[in-house]
Amino acid sequence: MCGIIGYIGNKDVLSIIISGLKRLEYRGYDSCGVGFVEEKQLKILKTKGRIEKLQKKIEKTNTKIAVGHTRWATHGVPIEENAHPHTDCQNRFAVVHNGIIENYESLKKILIKEGHIFRSETDSEVIVHLIEKFYNGNLKEAVKKTLSQIVGSYGLIVLDKQQMVVSRKGSPIVIGVGENEFFVASDISAIIEHTKDIVYLEDYEIAVINENGYSIISKDDQLVEKEIQKIKISLEQIEKGNYKHFMLKEIFEQPTTIKNSLAGRIDLNNLTAKLGGLEEVLTQEPLKKIKRIMILACGTSWHCGLVAKYILEKYTRIPVDVDYASEFRYRNPVIDSSVLTIVISQSGETADTLSALREAKEKGSLVLGVVNVVGSTIARESDCGVYTRAGVEIGVASTKAFTSQLVVMFLISLYIGRKINTITDSQAKEIIENLEKISRKIKIVLKDAENIKAIAEKYKNSNNFLYLGRGINYPLALEGALKLKEISYVHAEGYPAAEMKHGPIALVDENMPCFFIANKDQNYEKVISNMNEIKTRGGKIISIATEKEIEDLSDEIVYVPKTLEVLSPFVNVVVLQLFAYYISDFLKRDVDKPRNLAKSVTVE
Ligand code: G6P
Repeated sequence: MCGIIGYIGNKDVLSIIISGLKRLEYRGYDSCGVGFVEEKQLKILKTKGRIEKLQKKIEKTNTKIAVGHTRWATHGVPIEENAHPHTDCQNRFAVVHNGIIENYESLKKILIKEGHIFRSETDSEVIVHLIEKFYNGNLKEAVKKTLSQIVGSYGLIVLDKQQMVVSRKGSPIVIGVGENEFFVASDISAIIEHTKDIVYLEDYEIAVINENGYSIISKDDQLVEKEIQKIKISLEQIEKGNYKHFMLKEIFEQPTTIKNSLAGRIDLNNLTAKLGGLEEVLTQEPLKKIKRIMILACGTSWHCGLVAKYILEKYTRIPVDVDYASEFRYRNPVIDSSVLTIVISQSGETADTLSALREAKEKGSLVLGVVNVVGSTIARESDCGVYTRAGVEIGVASTKAFTSQLVVMFLISLYIGRKINTITDSQAKEIIENLEKISRKIKIVLKDAENIKAIAEKYKNSNNFLYLGRGINYPLALEGALKLKEISYVHAEGYPAAEMKHGPIALVDENMPCFFIANKDQNYEKVISNMNEIKTRGGKIISIATEKEIEDLSDEIVYVPKTLEVLSPFVNVVVLQLFAYYISDFLKRDVDKPRNLAKSVTVE
């Protein structure tokens, strides 16, 4: 949700913090702040709004230590007072926090009674007053006591004049190790230009970092020796290059990211998928006992789950349920060891998905994680898993992560289907051959971007859109509508095309464009009937087509290359992504950082 960065070293400390915050801004961007030491005093600068505004407030300083925070408000509106860092009454400590303190109200009451003065409406501020209360000359001990009082989630840095004390629970924190310098961040993209040597902190661990080095202690107070991991992400991956927005770059990256997701994962001899992360756990024995698959996710990842239901059921004949992670948890779900749970998450940190994973595990289900961010909490807590390899996704609206998730869901279906003998050799060959062509087909769709842009320009002032599709393309209708809502703030609804007759058709008139996913597949004739129903009511039709014959029915048409019906979501989604992108850009919205949203939702 929010972004956190800290630095100790001899370089220009505040410019490192500011550039890190800019890279983190996609995680939350309604207010921000920095804390540093000047003339032996803690100094805090904060602002409502974006990092650029904060940057203007900063003057040259020779501090050697600083922390920064960019916020996505949960408790307390986005104003300067509620921005982080928060300080204690005597201004000795500054805290930046990511997560939620669930028992902050009762803690705050006690602290106020004890004389602490609160300056914000945030839950986070209780942390720094608790530290003040427990401080007895040893900051690490005070932090430890504080964390024992807290219910909720946190990734945090506590700063005093010469050190940072860092900890996490349910919210990621990494330590970056440079030459005589140390970084802390909630996301490696904040520090990648300075170091690729990373130490991942686990829940409840506490790290103390000063100019001489760092030490980490475990929950039970033991010193922990941690391996420094070399991360492979390059700076180029987290920069926009010549693209106007990250989202556009990420849409255009899809031919490559899809190839990456497939690379080395096809076993042509046995016509199956080679998935190292499954092989030891998901062998034939446990797979034969699986009676049901449960897919849990949120947002765009949930839409991938809906598409995956079609793929998995088709190829494995195992029934698949798909649920919002947030709903699953709170209804005492019927789940046990006969159910394979698949959690899908780009960030690997979504709080609802993580809680659902834990619930499923607790009930005895084997959990398979499909995750993009390497080393993320969901990746680590799953019993087995497959990384999607989409690379860093920065645009808040997910695009390339979705298509890579789809690739992985195909590979998993192939893997399971071959293990339990529900996929014949010829079917397996067909899937493999067509999957390998998908990247090329997406390139063809991308070549049509100008046409899609022209359609978007024509419809940019419409206030409502209906997205319709059937079968495997019904979830795509949902995804198309979600993309448009997220980044253009235009109302859009996705519906199964046939269901449209049971309600939404009442909305149809010349001001309500209907986006039809109308590829020639088993539902084609039915979709054409639905298009006629719209046409006769004066509705405007934009269609994604594979055949010329619906040109007359359509007010606008975008052609996509033919592929297997199960693979059609790959080409269709690119049209939907581009359409949403161009509408958003025409409306001058903040495409990469849409209002009120955050890339990674680490609160429930
Ligand atoms: C947020 C993001 C979406 C994303 C969803 C699930 O809402 O803005 O783009 O689809 O979270 O995130 P995850 O990281 O679990 O896929």
